[in-house]
Amino acid sequence: MFFKLVIILVVIVVAAAEDISFIYNGFESGVDIWQDGPRGGVMVDGLLRIRQRASHTFYAKPVTFKNDSSSGSEVFSFSTTFVFAIRSEYKTLSGHGLAFVISPTLGRPGALPSQYLGLFNASNNGNMSNHVFAVELDTIQSAEFNDINENHVGIDINGLDSVKSATAGYYVKDGRYPRKLSLISGNPMKVWVEYDGTRKQINVTLAPINVGKKPRIPLLSLKYDLSPVLNKIMYVGFSASTGSIKTFHYILGWSFRMNGQAQELVPSQLPKLPSIGDKKVSKLLTFGVPVMAVSLVLLAICLVVFVMRRKKYAELLEDWELEYGPQRFKYEELYKATKGFGKEVLLGVGGFGEVYRGILPTSKIEIAVKRVSHKSRQGIKEFVAEIVSLGRLRHRNLVQLLGYCRRNGELLLVYDYMPNGSLEKYLYNQPKITLNWSRRFRVIKGVASGLFYLHEEWEQVVIHRDVKASNVLLDQELNGRLGDFGLARLCAHGTDHQTTHVAGTLGYLAPEHARTGRATTSTDVFAFGAFLLEVACGRRPIETQGPEEDIILADRVFLCWNKGNILEARDQNLGNDFVVEEVELVLKLALLCSRSPPVARPSMRQVMQYLDGDIALPELSLLRLSSSGSAFAQVEGSEDVEMAYKCSYVPESTLLSGGR
Ligand SMILES: *[C@@H]1O[C@H](CO)[C@@H](O)[C@H](O)[C@H]1NC(C)=O
Ligand SMILES: *[C@@H]1O[C@H](CO)[C@@H](O)[C@H](O)[C@H]1NC(C)=O
Ligand SMILES: *[C@@H]1O[C@H](CO)[C@@H](O)[C@H](O)[C@H]1NC(C)=O
Ligand SMILES: *[C@@H]1O[C@H](CO)[C@@H](O)[C@H](O)[C@H]1NC(C)=O
Repeated sequence: MFFKLVIILVVIVVAAAEDISFIYNGFESGVDIWQDGPRGGVMVDGLLRIRQRASHTFYAKPVTFKNDSSSGSEVFSFSTTFVFAIRSEYKTLSGHGLAFVISPTLGRPGALPSQYLGLFNASNNGNMSNHVFAVELDTIQSAEFNDINENHVGIDINGLDSVKSATAGYYVKDGRYPRKLSLISGNPMKVWVEYDGTRKQINVTLAPINVGKKPRIPLLSLKYDLSPVLNKIMYVGFSASTGSIKTFHYILGWSFRMNGQAQELVPSQLPKLPSIGDKKVSKLLTFGVPVMAVSLVLLAICLVVFVMRRKKYAELLEDWELEYGPQRFKYEELYKATKGFGKEVLLGVGGFGEVYRGILPTSKIEIAVKRVSHKSRQGIKEFVAEIVSLGRLRHRNLVQLLGYCRRNGELLLVYDYMPNGSLEKYLYNQPKITLNWSRRFRVIKGVASGLFYLHEEWEQVVIHRDVKASNVLLDQELNGRLGDFGLARLCAHGTDHQTTHVAGTLGYLAPEHARTGRATTSTDVFAFGAFLLEVACGRRPIETQGPEEDIILADRVFLCWNKGNILEARDQNLGNDFVVEEVELVLKLALLCSRSPPVARPSMRQVMQYLDGDIALPELSLLRLSSSGSAFAQVEGSEDVEMAYKCSYVPESTLLSGGR
């Protein structure tokens, strides 16, 4: 076709020795552009394409911003304009944004991706010694930097807390309010950044590409003297950051001028963005009446098919859900991704429903879809609100929740796909597949860190309610990631009327949780204890086979420890390949977490400190407090045990004889 035809014109004009000026109406290799690393970014069909986690594209030559480097010297006026587009694999969700940056270095060494936009890192953010000026086009709201929303333009000086920012948009004529623009729409947009060295004024203007002339009123205008900020010699360029969602940042053209107005880009010479698929149907008219008649018939057929498909892909959508746009998936999309929820992509059946593996049709991103049956409408609003809010949790030891979809009687939750499956498989399919000790220990630490994040590091306390090995998934690098957080709540809401049980799983339920039905961070710690035992001993917390004193794992470990050989309880499949101190630490810590009084259990913060060896574990002999001689919950009186069994998913009431 003809759209491959791209005209690239590159003119570089160096007027005076000092006053640098350049214009790129599209880019081709060989121009004075520097990009970090071989994978930092590429030039394709005249476009600068950036898709790494954090990458930098700079004009390769130094630019002089002042007459001399003395502190009194003033920054010259400058002006720049560029056309960019941000394209994400999702329509309404994207990676992080893009920034125009003036930096003392070529690139931003040491800077972090994601919310740091590849500009700064945690230690230098906000420091005056950075000497960095940037204009951010930010697509995610980072509360830590006081971002106003997830679609804004900001002026950043030495740090990510913008000195001034505004929702992306542009003024038409002398309109009082700017028209909104979506940075992640995928459409090309134009930006002008201007600095008036005499009036010490920064203007930032944004406009869609088809508007043509620069809007008269800038989106942002700020009186600020850049003289103390910029050095004499600086570099100019772009920094982009994607985070975990696959996103492309494109620069279509760029012009810059020191001491003057940057030359306007020539729209007809700018390269074309890759097409997103929808082809025009307009040619139909030129084929005459017969073709049109045929088309009409086809159209009628399409209509019938469409109506049938609508039924097939019907989903529930109510007004209150509209604000969750980014997190809502179309049922059709999920249906296609999972080959119609076919048997061949069924990953397993968990406590809440089936889990399917899928590949999103357009983005080819691998996902896991969990179908949770949900009969009653009661409480669904709160639950969805909660799910959406949990979707904002981001931690390397949590399975990322990407969004949801609602159908009559069911809820579909979309997660990142974890290629290595559930940890359970590695513990209970031994010796066929196994995990060595150092890996297990890493998984333990990871899960602890994930749970700590839920309890203490996020803006609100999140109680997981169902920590156990089968809810820990392993990613590509075999890191443990906690899944299913907050889901137990669905059951706790009592939405399923037949089973008004306490949500949680037998063997992981803290006694007070079984008794009162209230989940707390301590009940999570209790379950985490059971999980530690599971990983270290390679068996389930409760197992009906074998001698009676071995039924409850915590009992068995306690007995071994009492005999002075706690290591005897370890998973024999580990062979000799383990670190004695670590296994001991894990087993003892597990016992500590399994203690009956909630206050006697450590917090997840302490658990992390114990695991990192930052503080020593308390002497366990001090724990023998209970008069019955046993310090641990599951063995502390038959009432609790009975309760725990009744409330669990496992209906084996014969187990009751296992309690004391
Ligand atoms: C820099 O020096 C030139 C020539 O000496 C002078 O004309 C100009 O005003 C100076 N610019 C600034 C910003 O000090
Ligand atoms: C942060 O960036 C600075 C400057 O680029 C660098 O010197 C420093 O090592 C970085 N700090 C960390 C923790 O990466
Ligand atoms: C800013 O950076 C300088 C040099 O890297 C360092 O000495 C100073 O302590 C930093 N200031 C703050 C407030 O972090
Ligand atoms: C910045 O915008 C203000 C207000 O619209 C205008 O008066 C001023 O001339 C602009 N300055 C530059 C450098 O474009």
